Amino acid sequence: MSYFSKMTTTTNDPNRRNVVIMGRRSWDCIPSKFKPLPNRINFVLSRSNLNLSEYPDTFVFNSLQKAIDVLHSEAFKDLFEQVWIIGGASLYEEALNSSNFYKLYLTKIHKVFDCDTFIPDLTKNLKEIDEPNVPKEVQEENGVNFSYHVYIK
Ligand SMILES: NC(=O)c1ccc[n+]([C@@H]2O[C@H](COP(=O)([O-])OP(=O)(O)OC[C@H]3O[C@@H](n4cnc5c(N)ncnc54)[C@H](OP(=O)(O)O)[C@@H]3O)[C@@H](O)[C@H]2O)c1
Repeated sequence: MSYFSKMTTTTNDPNRRNVVIMGRRSWDCIPSKFKPLPNRINFVLSRSNLNLSEYPDTFVFNSLQKAIDVLHSEAFKDLFEQVWIIGGASLYEEALNSSNFYKLYLTKIHKVFDCDTFIPDLTKNLKEIDEPNVPKEVQEENGVNFSYHVYIK
């Protein structure tokens, strides 16, 4: 989580913030006290009539394209630096197939867990690259190993 927070929050320009785009279920899974994700502009995608006006810096769109259109608008274009798609499953796939796709940041957890949400292998047609600010060595927390990977098309 700290790697996720650092990567999605850090900007070169202190006057800009990053945008995180997520599906409605991913938003629902964030504990209340962490909503909206701090120091980031939160975009939530939903096809229903979701109202998140009680949350600051949080916007709802009914398609990924609508969200991208708003990012290109005069009102928004100078406010943000990076745009991070942070799940869930269908959104990862949609973003990967989008012409706006830039890089995939993947954390592999070296252990098998029971899960209820699955994604296909997103890395199939991608090439792994080295990125200076991403540690290459295997990480460990509470006895669980994991490693960071970065891919481009
Ligand atoms: N490990 C990870 O990287 C990661 C990241 C994120 C989430 N998660 C986990 O994954 C689970 C949630 O993922 P999920 O795949 O089930 O759901 P999700 O993608 O987060 O949310 C699905 C919902 O998002 C909305 N949505 C998605 N794509 C849309 C689009 N293109 N246009 C408009 N609305 C769109 C729809 O909302 P409506 O139903 O409201 O119309 C859809 O039902 C949670 O358990 C979460 O903790 C893991």
